[in-house]
Amino acid sequence: VSLLVDASPQSGRVIPEALFGVFFEEINHAGAGGLWAELVSNRGFEAGGPNTPSNIDPWSVIGNESFITTSTDRSSCFERNKISLRMEVICDKDGANTCPDDGVGIYNPGFWGMNIEQGKAYRVVLHVRSSGSVNISVSLTGSDGLQKLASSNIIEEASDISDWKKIELTLESQGTNHNSRLQLTTTKRGIIWFDQVSVMPLDTYKGHGFRKDLFEMLAELKPRFIRFPGGCFVEGEWMRNAFRWRETIGPWEERPGHFGDVWMYWTDDGLGYLEFLQLAEDLGAAPIWVFNNGISHNDQVSTSVVLPFVRDVLDSIEFARGPSNSTWGSVRAAMGHPEPFDLRYVAIGNEDCGKKNYLGNYLKFYSLIKAAYPDIQIISNCDGSSHPLDHPADMYDFHIYTSANNMFSMAHQFDHTSRVGPKAFVSEYAVTGKDAGTGSLLAALAEAGFLIGLETNSDVVEMASYAPLLVNANDRRWNPDAIVFNSWQSFGTPSYWMQQFFKESSGATVFPVKVQSNSATSLIASAIKWQSAEGNDNYLKIKVVNFGSDPLNLSVSVNGLENSINSLRSTKVVLTSANVMDENSFSAPNKVFPEKTRLESAGTDMAMVAPAHSISSFDLSLA
Ligand code: AHR
Repeated sequence: VSLLVDASPQSGRVIPEALFGVFFEEINHAGAGGLWAELVSNRGFEAGGPNTPSNIDPWSVIGNESFITTSTDRSSCFERNKISLRMEVICDKDGANTCPDDGVGIYNPGFWGMNIEQGKAYRVVLHVRSSGSVNISVSLTGSDGLQKLASSNIIEEASDISDWKKIELTLESQGTNHNSRLQLTTTKRGIIWFDQVSVMPLDTYKGHGFRKDLFEMLAELKPRFIRFPGGCFVEGEWMRNAFRWRETIGPWEERPGHFGDVWMYWTDDGLGYLEFLQLAEDLGAAPIWVFNNGISHNDQVSTSVVLPFVRDVLDSIEFARGPSNSTWGSVRAAMGHPEPFDLRYVAIGNEDCGKKNYLGNYLKFYSLIKAAYPDIQIISNCDGSSHPLDHPADMYDFHIYTSANNMFSMAHQFDHTSRVGPKAFVSEYAVTGKDAGTGSLLAALAEAGFLIGLETNSDVVEMASYAPLLVNANDRRWNPDAIVFNSWQSFGTPSYWMQQFFKESSGATVFPVKVQSNSATSLIASAIKWQSAEGNDNYLKIKVVNFGSDPLNLSVSVNGLENSINSLRSTKVVLTSANVMDENSFSAPNKVFPEKTRLESAGTDMAMVAPAHSISSFDLSLA
């Protein structure tokens, strides 16, 4: 097979600055119990609903009914989340009904176990009130409560805490246990109420609350944008459960939290609207705010009454980018971010095109947002790849979940798209079903072929992101995903490593590649020229996906290159594995992993091999 790369300057075309990014959805406990480092699950006891009695899962009681009873009531000092836990202790360290030595109380196992590590510090905050003086032991322990990792005592006199009191302390762990829990225990008779209990590791990315290993995996993709917070999560099964930005800002204790009824779990909304914007800023990625447009999976707001929803979104934009003396910009500033965020893109809804009120609602949102913020790029849910849109938009959303063969052939999806009009935002793509399992090499190969097609068609495709990004292995709501984690480990699926082959593409220059072969091959290739961030190093990157089961001998010729090639600094990266259905796992996280070697034969004429079922990148260092 020969590959003819035309790298002459006049043949190149500049790829959009933000072609490849990430899509973060609160699905699979990606945020709550994932990227958001909070260790307590259901920290405000709100997850059981606003009425009492309610269940307090996953909190549990330590001690039997002859020593302790618990219930919920609505006595919290926080107006928007009234539920608190009432704990009545009937035993006492002194007296007839003696408490067990370790006391009685409650524990929280976090999100399938807390990761507590030796020498690390954890900030504990809890709100307490009581009928009398209290002596509470706050401890981090192993999952059976026996291994003591860290503890501290809270001793308060009655006069101090007959009303709610916020207590803050820092615990430093004396040991490591990835399946730990928080315990609040006492050996003193009386009634204690607890509310808004938080345990945060001090060691989060820049202290911004993001779990470091997961943040770093995202950063490694060099995403140019981040679409958030969903997906279906934005829509809700019902409007009442959709994501409402206003409820997710301000002090964490005062956020009501909400039940995401599409992915069926509660989130305390610690990872709220401001934190998403902060995440984008920390990643150096442009935020893309997907908001609910008055449509959920099962109910809709009619266009005649959608105006309050539009005003709400206008407020959200002002919150993100208004000056710090504007109404909502000042709320952002009070939360510690006086500088506006660089919000330049919004999407009106998710997968709602064709629904009864979509177009009507869309036009209301579109016209009022454009009037207030003419520079904001607005993304429609309707597919404009095969016919022009019947409404104004800056981009249109395109989602594709399909088999490996289909995905690979979709490299040509945009070949015939009109070259005028709004461009595509391929905001969700992935191979799913049996070809993908929980993340196969086969899926990654097909997706790489698709992305090569997007690079080639990047005159009409502006942005693309894989979906979903993250999965807590204890709550797989959707397979496959790019990054898999539990309380303490994480690994990339082949689709994650596949995306690393494209991290230099945004803003690079793409050149035509001709593939010539005497027989039919399942091979696709692209070539880009890119510059390192410092601007000192230039590379020509030739990517080749061999989707077939036979290795292919390649003869690669590069024409029109103005630079000379430094073979000492040229490299080759190959992603492949013994079996095309191979996956990574916690026990073998690098089974399918890109292997980097020197490209000794680097030059304008090269003989190469594309192994069976592989993605290869030949990176020629240009002088
Ligand atoms: O990525 C998972 C889901 O797939 C998203 O929530 C939705 O937009 C799509 O249907």
